[in-house]
Amino acid sequence: MDQYKHLDFLRVTEAAALSASKWVGKGKRDEADLAACEAMRGELNAMEMDATIVIGEGERDEAPMLYIGEKLGQPGGPAIQIAVDPLEGTNLCANGTPNAIAVLAAAVEGEGWLMHAPDCYMEKLVVGPECAGVVDITVPPRINVRLMAKALGKDVDECIIGVLDRPRHEELIAELRDAGCRVHLVPDGDLSVAIAALDPDSGVDGLMGMGGAPEGVITAAAVLCTGGEMQARLKFTIDGQRERAEKMIEGDIDRVFHTKDLASGNVTFAATGITPGDLLKGVRYRHGMAYTESIVMRSSNYTIRRIETSHRIGAGFGDRRRRH
Ligand code: FBP
Repeated sequence: MDQYKHLDFLRVTEAAALSASKWVGKGKRDEADLAACEAMRGELNAMEMDATIVIGEGERDEAPMLYIGEKLGQPGGPAIQIAVDPLEGTNLCANGTPNAIAVLAAAVEGEGWLMHAPDCYMEKLVVGPECAGVVDITVPPRINVRLMAKALGKDVDECIIGVLDRPRHEELIAELRDAGCRVHLVPDGDLSVAIAALDPDSGVDGLMGMGGAPEGVITAAAVLCTGGEMQARLKFTIDGQRERAEKMIEGDIDRVFHTKDLASGNVTFAATGITPGDLLKGVRYRHGMAYTESIVMRSSNYTIRRIETSHRIGAGFGDRRRRH
């Protein structure tokens, strides 16, 4: 992916974040999601590329836009696979609580690849570069935190593991706490917390537990860009999911998926904060300006850019969208 295109994806997540931010704390999750989707789709469609949505808002018959298989872009550019989550943490945005982000991952066909994940659950273990190669999703969490603590040069009770606050995680949370580990419980948004775990300065050392598989693939793209590690297993809770996964994924669908089984080669990851969170500041408004914080990463050279942008309200965003 060339430098120009890579940074262009920043505009896409910024546009989605700015649009969704108007709905922060208003209790309207659908409106927030629609705003993020429209803005993201408009910006993607304005880019010179032959893009296909591989992870999006759902199947064609259930999502009006950014559905799986939707083609976007203007003629003349490379074929690109795109995985999007225009509003990761719909409830977080509606409730004005931390960690709502706009996020995408992209791979030029032939250079990079993103798994076409079914909409099922995924058990995830995500760690930053210092713990890469030391953890194993098939062993009990208490052993993984011990291995992580050793690799991080600290005690288990100095480690923080992010976990989605769900009844299904009661045992996991109890085991981590029994092991002495500190648990960072989040109401939603395991993608945001996983990305934070890749940054040694975030205070979060890892992510464990079950969340969405589509979010897992986008997470893997970020893991690939940072040299961290992700291990995952698909979990099927609804009739038909297993059969669908068998059609979409080659090989044993019950195996442990490693980072490169989920995202590989030359990929780009971009995210912009909507509400303030573990990873990014939220959108802030002042005197006719909006301020965003984003992160853009490339796996080809492990570049990680944190970008603060000031936007003059009414200038720029939306103009390109109206043309297509
Ligand atoms: P949405 O933004 O689609 O609401 O997803 C939020 C999220 O918390 C994800 O971060 C997570 O992977 C998934 O939902 C967990 O699903 P569930 O709410 O069913 O436990």
